[in-house]
Amino acid sequence: MPLPAPVYYPPFNITRTSHAIITSRDLEKSRDFYEQVVGLVLSDADADTLWFRGVEEVCHHSLVVKRRSSAPEAEAVGFRVLTDEELDKVEHFFRSRGLPARWIEVPHQGRTLAVSDPAGLPLHICATMTTKPRVYTQFENFRGGAAMRFDHYQIQVTDVQQQTDFYAEMGFRISEYMALDDKLLVTFMFRKPGTQDIVFLENPGPRLHHFAYTVSDSHSILRACDVAGNMGMGDVVERGPGRHGPAGVLFVYLRDPDGHRVELFCDHYLLIDSEVEPVRWDVRVPGLTLRWGLPPQECWFTEATRFSGVPVAELDGSRPPLATLERYLAEKALARARS
Ligand SMILES: [Fe+2]
Repeated sequence: MPLPAPVYYPPFNITRTSHAIITSRDLEKSRDFYEQVVGLVLSDADADTLWFRGVEEVCHHSLVVKRRSSAPEAEAVGFRVLTDEELDKVEHFFRSRGLPARWIEVPHQGRTLAVSDPAGLPLHICATMTTKPRVYTQFENFRGGAAMRFDHYQIQVTDVQQQTDFYAEMGFRISEYMALDDKLLVTFMFRKPGTQDIVFLENPGPRLHHFAYTVSDSHSILRACDVAGNMGMGDVVERGPGRHGPAGVLFVYLRDPDGHRVELFCDHYLLIDSEVEPVRWDVRVPGLTLRWGLPPQECWFTEATRFSGVPVAELDGSRPPLATLERYLAEKALARARS
């Protein structure tokens, strides 16, 4: 299982993960959830679209929710490049590999390139957005988890090695990874100096497993859960709170009214220096990848958001059973019955 070598001087400069575009069957419910529970700021709204940003963010949007009557989907996820000229280099990079690349008009964004990676994942890449006030010291207006900034997304794909190799060419480095013997199962890759901008996890895909916002402290995570409970939405809390082994973050996963999964977490470590080796996690070691907290429900592994018009490939071959909450409880019950 060769890990790709870091590319410190890639052909263009993707600076960070930027945003996600999802659809909703009930925009009013979505607005309640993202404003009151997650605590995002509504940058703009029209009859069919909501544009949100975190309380720390000045760029116009990090989450776009579009009204649709069909099953909830994701349209794309976004990256930023540093300057407009970089976009032409991105276009050349994708076209030279036979991958789709086209220019699109997107409200509140500068020139935007739509591309698809080798797994078919749709990406929107731009250098600029219009800006809004940074409201991170308007504490009196904070709601729910008061999500600070968009941090990363996790994408399910059938071939983690292929994705990892491709993104490494674009300058993404690996902070941590999970493997089963010689097979990559999960890679955490970054451009900004944290542990992750994009995470690949082996499963049918491409599908959007979750997108994640940072919060300022552990209490923000609990407050988001408390607000959800008081609003009659307590069942949106799907997993956690708990503490991940990888990146060591405190987390909770919520499902929005359309089933899209959002993670609130604080916070991962700084990662810049070139001599730091990727951290390997062996998925065979029980409990290693979760410091504390219960294992996830099976649906956390199996359910994810499809991308509009992108077929989902299935896995071939089998792998060990997942460490699910259902399995954990069944084994506990069996052990108790035997004692
Ligand atoms: Fe995450």
